[in-house]
Amino acid sequence: MAQEPILSLRGVSKKFGAVSALTDIELDINPGEVVALVGDNGAGKSTLIKVLAGVHQPTSGVIRYEGREVSMESPAAAMRLGIATVYQDLALCENLDVVANLFLGHELSPYALDEEAMEARSWTLLQELAARIPSVREPIASLSGGQRQTVAIARSLITNPRIIMLDEPTAALGVAQTAEVLNLIERVRDKGLGVIMISHNMEDVRAVADRIVVLRLGRNNGVFDRSTSHQDLVAAITGATDNAVTRRMEKLQ
Ligand SMILES: Nc1ncnc2c1ncn2[C@@H]1O[C@H](COP(=O)(O)OP(=O)(O)O)[C@@H](O)[C@H]1O
Ligand SMILES: [Mg+2]
Repeated sequence: MAQEPILSLRGVSKKFGAVSALTDIELDINPGEVVALVGDNGAGKSTLIKVLAGVHQPTSGVIRYEGREVSMESPAAAMRLGIATVYQDLALCENLDVVANLFLGHELSPYALDEEAMEARSWTLLQELAARIPSVREPIASLSGGQRQTVAIARSLITNPRIIMLDEPTAALGVAQTAEVLNLIERVRDKGLGVIMISHNMEDVRAVADRIVVLRLGRNNGVFDRSTSHQDLVAAITGATDNAVTRRMEKLQ
Protein backbone atom coordinates (compact mmCIF):
# COMPACT_ATOMS: atom_id res chain seq x y z
CA MET A 1 0.00 0.00 0.00
CA ALA A 2 1.45 3.34 -1.03
CA GLN A 3 1.74 5.74 1.83
CA GLU A 4 3.31 9.14 2.00
CA PRO A 5 6.50 9.24 4.04
CA ILE A 6 6.31 11.56 7.03
CA LEU A 7 9.84 12.69 6.48
CA SER A 8 12.02 12.49 3.43
CA LEU A 9 15.58 13.55 2.82
CA ARG A 10 17.04 14.07 -0.62
CA GLY A 11 20.72 14.71 -1.20
CA VAL A 12 21.24 16.00 2.32
CA SER A 13 24.86 16.92 3.08
CA LYS A 14 26.48 18.56 6.07
CA LYS A 15 29.99 19.94 6.21
CA PHE A 16 31.82 21.25 9.23
CA GLY A 17 34.52 23.34 7.57
CA ALA A 18 36.51 20.86 5.49
CA VAL A 19 34.94 17.82 7.20
CA SER A 20 32.09 16.15 5.31
CA ALA A 21 29.98 14.70 8.13
CA LEU A 22 27.11 13.74 5.79
CA THR A 23 27.14 13.34 2.02
CA ASP A 24 24.05 12.94 -0.20
CA ILE A 25 21.81 11.24 2.33
CA GLU A 26 18.54 9.87 0.91
CA LEU A 27 16.09 8.63 3.51
CA ASP A 28 12.34 8.20 3.90
CA ILE A 29 10.63 7.64 7.23
CA ASN A 30 7.12 6.17 6.95
CA PRO A 31 4.34 6.15 9.53
CA GLY A 32 4.47 3.11 11.80
CA GLU A 33 8.03 2.01 11.16
CA VAL A 34 11.23 1.80 13.12
CA VAL A 35 14.32 2.78 11.17
CA ALA A 36 17.61 1.90 12.84
CA LEU A 37 20.58 4.09 12.06
CA VAL A 38 23.82 2.20 12.50
CA GLY A 39 27.46 2.90 11.75
CA ASP A 40 30.90 3.15 13.25
CA ASN A 41 32.00 6.07 15.41
CA GLY A 42 32.22 9.17 13.25
CA ALA A 43 29.89 7.71 10.57
CA GLY A 44 27.52 10.68 10.86
CA LYS A 45 24.66 9.26 12.92
CA SER A 46 24.53 12.04 15.51
CA THR A 47 24.95 14.69 12.84
CA LEU A 48 21.99 13.29 10.91
CA ILE A 49 19.82 13.29 14.04
CA LYS A 50 20.91 16.85 14.82
CA VAL A 51 20.09 18.02 11.30
CA LEU A 52 16.58 16.57 11.70
CA ALA A 53 16.28 18.02 15.21
CA GLY A 54 17.08 21.55 14.05
CA VAL A 55 20.39 21.65 15.92
CA HIS A 56 22.48 21.77 12.72
CA GLN A 57 21.49 23.22 9.36
CA PRO A 58 22.28 21.06 6.31
CA THR A 59 24.87 22.47 3.91
CA SER A 60 22.77 21.28 0.95
CA GLY A 61 19.85 19.03 0.10
CA VAL A 62 16.13 19.01 0.70
CA ILE A 63 14.13 17.88 3.74
CA ARG A 64 10.38 17.34 3.31
CA TYR A 65 7.91 16.89 6.12
CA GLU A 66 4.48 15.58 5.05
CA GLY A 67 5.50 16.35 1.49
CA ARG A 68 6.34 19.97 2.15
CA GLU A 69 9.90 21.30 1.95
CA VAL A 70 10.95 22.53 5.39
CA SER A 71 13.90 24.09 7.10
CA MET A 72 14.32 23.61 10.82
CA GLU A 73 16.11 26.66 12.10
CA SER A 74 16.05 25.58 15.73
CA PRO A 75 15.18 22.61 17.94
CA ALA A 76 11.93 24.41 18.79
CA ALA A 77 11.07 24.62 15.08
CA ALA A 78 11.65 20.88 14.61
CA MET A 79 9.52 20.12 17.66
CA ARG A 80 6.70 22.38 16.43
CA LEU A 81 6.75 20.53 13.15
CA GLY A 82 6.38 17.17 14.92
CA ILE A 83 9.92 15.82 15.24
CA ALA A 84 10.92 14.94 18.80
CA THR A 85 14.34 13.81 20.00
CA VAL A 86 15.49 11.81 23.02
CA TYR A 87 19.23 12.30 23.39
CA GLN A 88 21.47 9.84 25.16
CA ASP A 89 21.76 12.24 28.04
CA LEU A 90 18.09 12.06 28.93
CA ALA A 91 18.13 15.46 30.65
CA LEU A 92 15.67 14.45 33.35
CA CYS A 93 15.51 16.32 36.64
CA GLU A 94 16.46 13.85 39.36
CA ASN A 95 14.67 15.58 42.22
CA LEU A 96 11.39 16.16 40.36
CA ASP A 97 8.67 13.55 39.98
CA VAL A 98 7.53 11.86 36.76
CA VAL A 99 4.68 14.33 36.13
CA ALA A 100 6.95 17.36 36.48
CA ASN A 101 9.50 15.78 34.14
CA LEU A 102 6.90 14.86 31.53
CA PHE A 103 5.75 18.47 31.34
CA LEU A 104 9.12 20.12 31.76
CA GLY A 105 9.63 22.60 28.92
CA HIS A 106 6.02 22.24 27.77
CA GLU A 107 4.62 25.08 29.82
CA LEU A 108 2.39 26.08 26.94
CA SER A 109 0.59 22.75 26.99
CA PRO A 110 -3.11 23.10 27.86
CA TYR A 111 -2.53 20.89 30.92
CA ALA A 112 0.56 22.57 32.23
CA LEU A 113 -0.96 24.85 34.81
CA ASP A 114 -3.34 22.27 36.20
CA GLU A 115 -1.62 19.70 38.47
CA GLU A 116 -4.55 17.30 38.42
CA ALA A 117 -4.85 17.41 34.64
CA MET A 118 -1.11 16.90 34.25
CA GLU A 119 -1.20 13.91 36.58
CA ALA A 120 -4.15 12.38 34.72
CA ARG A 121 -2.50 12.98 31.34
CA SER A 122 0.72 11.41 32.66
CA TRP A 123 -1.13 8.26 33.72
CA THR A 124 -2.94 7.99 30.40
CA LEU A 125 0.25 8.42 28.44
CA LEU A 126 2.16 5.85 30.49
CA GLN A 127 -0.76 3.42 30.34
CA GLU A 128 -0.94 3.76 26.57
CA LEU A 129 2.71 2.81 26.51
CA ALA A 130 2.10 0.02 29.06
CA ALA A 131 4.99 1.56 30.96
CA ARG A 132 5.99 -0.03 34.24
CA ILE A 133 6.16 3.04 36.44
CA PRO A 134 4.77 2.44 39.94
CA SER A 135 3.70 6.03 40.53
CA VAL A 136 3.83 9.25 38.56
CA ARG A 137 4.62 11.00 41.85
CA GLU A 138 7.87 9.03 42.14
CA PRO A 139 11.00 11.21 41.87
CA ILE A 140 13.22 10.31 38.90
CA ALA A 141 16.06 9.56 41.33
CA SER A 142 14.23 6.44 42.53
CA LEU A 143 13.60 4.99 39.04
CA SER A 144 15.64 2.35 37.20
CA GLY A 145 17.52 3.11 33.97
CA GLY A 146 14.76 1.52 31.90
CA GLN A 147 12.07 3.52 33.69
CA ARG A 148 14.04 6.73 33.09
CA GLN A 149 14.31 5.95 29.39
CA THR A 150 10.56 5.29 29.44
CA VAL A 151 9.88 8.68 31.04
CA ALA A 152 12.17 10.40 28.52
CA ILE A 153 10.34 8.73 25.61
CA ALA A 154 6.94 9.54 27.13
CA ARG A 155 8.03 13.14 27.58
CA SER A 156 8.92 13.39 23.90
CA LEU A 157 5.35 12.25 23.09
CA ILE A 158 3.68 15.06 25.08
CA THR A 159 3.69 17.34 22.03
CA ASN A 160 2.12 14.62 19.81
CA PRO A 161 5.01 14.33 17.35
CA ARG A 162 4.83 12.13 14.24
CA ILE A 163 8.54 11.29 14.37
CA ILE A 164 10.64 10.42 17.39
CA MET A 165 14.39 10.02 17.27
CA LEU A 166 16.16 7.99 19.94
CA ASP A 167 19.93 8.14 20.42
CA GLU A 168 21.18 4.83 21.87
CA PRO A 169 18.04 4.16 23.96
CA THR A 170 19.36 0.86 25.35
CA ALA A 171 23.07 1.63 25.72
CA ALA A 172 23.00 1.99 29.50
CA LEU A 173 20.54 -0.83 30.20
CA GLY A 174 20.68 -4.45 31.31
CA VAL A 175 18.89 -7.30 29.53
CA ALA A 176 15.44 -7.04 31.18
CA GLN A 177 15.27 -3.26 30.94
CA THR A 178 16.44 -3.36 27.35
CA ALA A 179 13.56 -5.71 26.53
CA GLU A 180 11.16 -3.31 28.25
CA VAL A 181 12.41 -0.34 26.25
CA LEU A 182 12.31 -2.29 22.97
CA ASN A 183 8.67 -3.19 23.73
CA LEU A 184 7.98 0.46 24.36
CA ILE A 185 9.53 1.40 21.01
CA GLU A 186 7.24 -1.13 19.31
CA ARG A 187 4.23 0.41 21.02
CA VAL A 188 5.23 3.89 19.84
CA ARG A 189 5.61 2.50 16.34
CA ASP A 190 2.18 0.85 16.59
CA LYS A 191 0.67 4.26 17.40
CA GLY A 192 1.70 5.14 13.83
CA LEU A 193 4.77 7.21 14.59
CA GLY A 194 7.98 6.99 12.63
CA VAL A 195 10.83 6.02 14.93
CA ILE A 196 14.50 6.65 14.15
CA MET A 197 16.78 4.78 16.50
CA ILE A 198 20.56 5.01 16.69
CA SER A 199 22.09 1.89 18.19
CA HIS A 200 25.40 0.09 18.44
CA ASN A 201 23.67 -3.08 19.51
CA MET A 202 22.90 -5.23 16.45
CA GLU A 203 20.77 -7.60 18.53
CA ASP A 204 18.49 -4.73 19.60
CA VAL A 205 18.42 -3.37 16.08
CA ARG A 206 17.44 -6.71 14.60
CA ALA A 207 14.78 -7.15 17.29
CA VAL A 208 12.80 -3.98 16.46
CA ALA A 209 13.92 -2.36 13.22
CA ASP A 210 11.74 -2.53 10.13
CA ARG A 211 14.68 -1.14 8.15
CA ILE A 212 18.34 -0.82 9.02
CA VAL A 213 20.19 2.09 7.42
CA VAL A 214 23.96 1.86 7.53
CA LEU A 215 26.02 5.03 7.49
CA ARG A 216 29.69 4.87 6.69
CA LEU A 217 31.97 7.89 6.45
CA GLY A 218 28.88 10.11 6.18
CA ARG A 219 27.32 8.18 3.30
CA ASN A 220 24.51 5.67 3.11
CA ASN A 221 26.24 2.30 2.80
CA GLY A 222 23.16 0.12 2.42
CA VAL A 223 19.62 -0.48 3.59
CA PHE A 224 18.83 -3.84 5.15
CA ASP A 225 15.97 -5.69 6.78
CA ARG A 226 16.07 -7.30 10.19
CA SER A 227 16.71 -10.76 8.82
CA THR A 228 20.17 -9.60 7.74
CA SER A 229 22.90 -11.50 9.55
CA HIS A 230 25.07 -9.83 12.14
CA GLN A 231 28.05 -10.57 9.89
CA ASP A 232 26.53 -8.83 6.86
CA LEU A 233 25.61 -5.77 8.93
CA VAL A 234 29.09 -5.54 10.38
CA ALA A 235 30.54 -5.87 6.89
CA ALA A 236 28.45 -2.92 5.67
CA ILE A 237 29.36 -0.89 8.75
CA THR A 238 33.08 -1.53 8.39
CA GLY A 239 33.10 -1.34 4.60
CA ALA A 240 34.05 -4.93 3.83
CA THR A 241 32.64 -5.60 0.36
CA ASP A 242 31.74 -9.23 0.44
CA ASN A 243 29.39 -10.63 -2.17
CA ALA A 244 26.62 -11.48 0.25
CA VAL A 245 26.38 -7.85 1.29
CA THR A 246 26.39 -6.56 -2.25
CA ARG A 247 23.68 -9.03 -3.29
CA ARG A 248 21.46 -8.13 -0.36
CA MET A 249 21.90 -4.41 -0.93
CA GLU A 250 20.94 -4.80 -4.58
CA LYS A 251 17.86 -6.75 -3.58
CA LEU A 252 16.67 -4.13 -1.13
CA GLN A 253 17.42 -0.90 -2.93
N1 LIG B 1 30.24 20.15 15.61
C1 LIG B 1 31.15 19.55 14.83
N2 LIG B 1 32.22 20.24 14.34
C2 LIG B 1 33.12 19.63 13.55
N3 LIG B 1 33.06 18.35 13.17
C3 LIG B 1 32.05 17.61 13.64
C4 LIG B 1 31.04 18.17 14.49
N4 LIG B 1 30.14 17.19 14.79
C5 LIG B 1 30.57 16.09 14.15
N5 LIG B 1 31.70 16.33 13.45
C6 LIG B 1 32.44 15.36 12.62
O1 LIG B 1 31.50 14.79 11.73
C7 LIG B 1 31.74 13.39 11.56
C8 LIG B 1 30.49 12.61 11.97
O2 LIG B 1 30.35 12.69 13.40
P1 LIG B 1 29.08 12.14 14.19
O3 LIG B 1 27.85 12.57 13.48
O4 LIG B 1 29.23 12.53 15.60
O5 LIG B 1 29.27 10.57 14.03
P2 LIG B 1 28.60 9.38 14.87
O6 LIG B 1 27.49 9.93 15.69
O7 LIG B 1 28.14 8.40 13.83
O8 LIG B 1 29.69 8.80 15.72
C9 LIG B 1 32.97 13.08 12.38
O9 LIG B 1 34.08 13.16 11.52
C10 LIG B 1 32.99 14.18 13.41
O10 LIG B 1 34.30 14.44 13.83
MG1 LIG C 1 27.29 9.97 17.79
